[in-house]
This record gives sequence, structure tokens and C-alpha cells, in this order.
Amino acid sequence: MTRIFLIGYMCSGKTTLGRAFALKMGLQFIDMDWYIEGRFHKTVKQIFAELGEGAFREMERKMLHEVGDFEDVMIATGGGTACFFDNVQYMNQQGQTVYMKADIDTLFNRLQIGKAKRPLLMNKTDEEMRQYITEQLASREPFYSQATYVFDSNRLESRHQIDKSIEELRQLLKL
Ligand code: S3P
Repeated sequence: MTRIFLIGYMCSGKTTLGRAFALKMGLQFIDMDWYIEGRFHKTVKQIFAELGEGAFREMERKMLHEVGDFEDVMIATGGGTACFFDNVQYMNQQGQTVYMKADIDTLFNRLQIGKAKRPLLMNKTDEEMRQYITEQLASREPFYSQATYVFDSNRLESRHQIDKSIEELRQLLKL
């Protein structure tokens, strides 16, 4: 039975690599944000705006425990999932965990396009965003680094790079 959790910062490539990897390996793919949105019939953006981050984290924890029992699955978590409650310990107990590690420059470039649907970043200027990413990444690193494996996720910008990363991840996980 295979159960993999991808953890790491927003735009670190959890969904991009996770979805492609699952397809290649015949695993079910779950993106936690999409799963939450489907279950609660609201976007993550709406949940943050209407109920607040605290409520989102409770929902996220609950959904993590739901998908954490699925079998033969690749789960792309949200950027904060590993950093709240005992979520990272739970994931380590339930399956293989991979920290998708990317440089600040990579994250910043990807998030310039991706920030619109990310409530923690959407209202920030470029300068504020770079500062925020730098500080938040530092404070989250102790959680992310509890993953069993670390994967360099800087190179996911083309089909060729994604295919190469699938192979590298497969070898890392010995699958
Ligand atoms: C968050 C990351 C997002 C989403 C929410 C909060 C975070 O997921 O769960 O906006 O705290 O880092 P992605 O990592 O998929 O962007």
C-alpha cells in the first residue's frame, strides 16, 4: 500500500508534481485545498474571508484525517497543513512524507502568478510578498523538515523537467 504526503510552501510544486506522479504510478491524487473546497462548497479564499484562518485550520485538520486513511494515494497538502496541530506527526505515522523544497526566488516568481487565490498573499505588494515569504518560510522550516524525505522542487517549469522529477521522486521513494 502506498500513501504519500507532499508538504511544503505555497507554489513549491506539490500539486504539479503530485498530480503527474500519481497519474504515472496509478495512484489516486488528492489536492487538499480542492478536497476542502469540494466538501465545504466554498473556495479557500471564501473560507478565510468568511470564517477566518482558525476555522480553515480546523477544517484542514479534519480533512487530513479523512484522506489520511485512503490507500494507494498521493496527497498534496496545503502550504500550512504541516505546520498546525500535530499534523506532521500524523502524516509521518500514516505514510511517506516528502518536503518539496524550493528557493525563495523560485517561490517568489511562481507566486507572482499564483498569489490571487492565496489569501495570505493576495493583498501584498511584491516587496511585502518577498519579505513575507522569507519570514514565513523560516518559521515553517522546522515543521517541513520533519518530513522523511526532502525533494528539490526548483525544476518543474516544463514537461521535460516534470518527467525528470517524477523519475527522481520514484527513486527517492524506492517505488
Ligand atoms: C496556505 C496554503 C494554501 C492554502 C491556504 C493557506 C498556507 O495551499 O491551503 O491558502 O498557509 O501556506 P497551497 O500550498 O496549495 O497554495
